[in-house]
Amino acid sequence: MRNYVIKGNICYSRTSKELCIAENGYVVCKDGKSAGVYESLPRIYEALPCYNYENKLVIPGLVDLHVHAPQYPFRGLGMDLELIDWLNTHTFVEEARYADLDYAEKAYDIFTEDLRNSATTRACIFGTIHADATLLLMEKLEDAGLTAYVGKVNMDRNSPEYLCEKSAESSAEDTQKWILDSRRFRHVMPILTPRFTPSCTDELFEKLSGLQKRYRLPVQSHLSENLGEIAWVRELCPGTQFYGESYDRYGLFGSSCPAIMAHCVHSGEAEMELMRKRQVFVAHCPESNANLSSGAAPVKTYLERGIKTGLGTDIAAGSSLSVFRAMAMAIQCSKLRWRLHDQSVSPLTVEEVFYLATKGGGEFFGKAGSFEEGYEFDAVVMDDSAIRHPGKLSVRERLERLIYLADDRHIAAKFISGRVIFRER
Ligand code: GUN
Ligand code: FE
Repeated sequence: MRNYVIKGNICYSRTSKELCIAENGYVVCKDGKSAGVYESLPRIYEALPCYNYENKLVIPGLVDLHVHAPQYPFRGLGMDLELIDWLNTHTFVEEARYADLDYAEKAYDIFTEDLRNSATTRACIFGTIHADATLLLMEKLEDAGLTAYVGKVNMDRNSPEYLCEKSAESSAEDTQKWILDSRRFRHVMPILTPRFTPSCTDELFEKLSGLQKRYRLPVQSHLSENLGEIAWVRELCPGTQFYGESYDRYGLFGSSCPAIMAHCVHSGEAEMELMRKRQVFVAHCPESNANLSSGAAPVKTYLERGIKTGLGTDIAAGSSLSVFRAMAMAIQCSKLRWRLHDQSVSPLTVEEVFYLATKGGGEFFGKAGSFEEGYEFDAVVMDDSAIRHPGKLSVRERLERLIYLADDRHIAAKFISGRVIFRER
């Protein structure tokens, strides 16, 4: 069914400052897109079937701009190290297991099922260097009805032998074949995924740049996450003024190559300015940044400067697949940053994190993450009746509470581009 109405308390962002609420309102889905939010239903829509979620909250689906599917099995484990040691001790060991398709099958079943049951409707996902396992992940996501970008990871240097591609050439060849193989999916799309500058040779970046132009793919990677990492990139890339240039010199940093850069915790003025100019998306991953002691990213500044920004869970440096959790942690980290670091920049507000989790990240997918007319109809229905309260709360208060208290048990229904993912489990 492509055309229908949802009745409920409709909440969505117009801007990072403007949260719109239609209490006991209606949002109309027409051909998979929103046909607008209404206080009372226009007569032309009266004949459409109506899902009545009268006392529940209806929000745009949440967007996870940065998550590593193969790291899901060790979430919540081994968080006693900083980035590079964490990668070498825990992450690469786990990712190497995806050479085994039986293991990948089991692990990606669990990841996909949990993602489907979450409030996330769209995600940008890292796989591993293994093309077959990555295609398996894409197939599972497609079958679950989810919309996603998924990347086969590239890494041909500074990686353990058991997780290092043989050469730039073989990495690029495998990537090209994987791009062509992934054409069979409708809602799951390929995205180029050089892991980060330390793990990719110049030759590999050059070849990925060629593939980017040929197939017009977006790119996702990591940027300025950790101080040791940044110092290492400075050594590896003489002639660059800042980390972002290591991607930009190959045309992999926005403009005609849509790009998501995870973290940007320690980006300086010049890097920020280039991100703004090139419309690079920042994936802010507050839980990861706390767990790996990376720092607190200047997200409020990104918003104020018009840098495109969304939220990421960054499993398994982040422990939770919940974008609600990322919203709460974004506020909390911004408060610590304000208190300890820079009192000229105020903490993030509820309006701002709700925007980041919906329309901010959704923009990477085009018109997604809002109920404004013409947006993809991605909706999640939240039933907060089990989060008991002795009195009566406003819809705005109920939404605020969900940011801190929601879990998957409170999700009553989920829709993506009008497709029903589930209703009333
Ligand atoms: N930088 C390079 N690889 C990774 C990764 O897997 N996780 C995080 N958080 N940062 C990275
Ligand atoms: Fe990451």
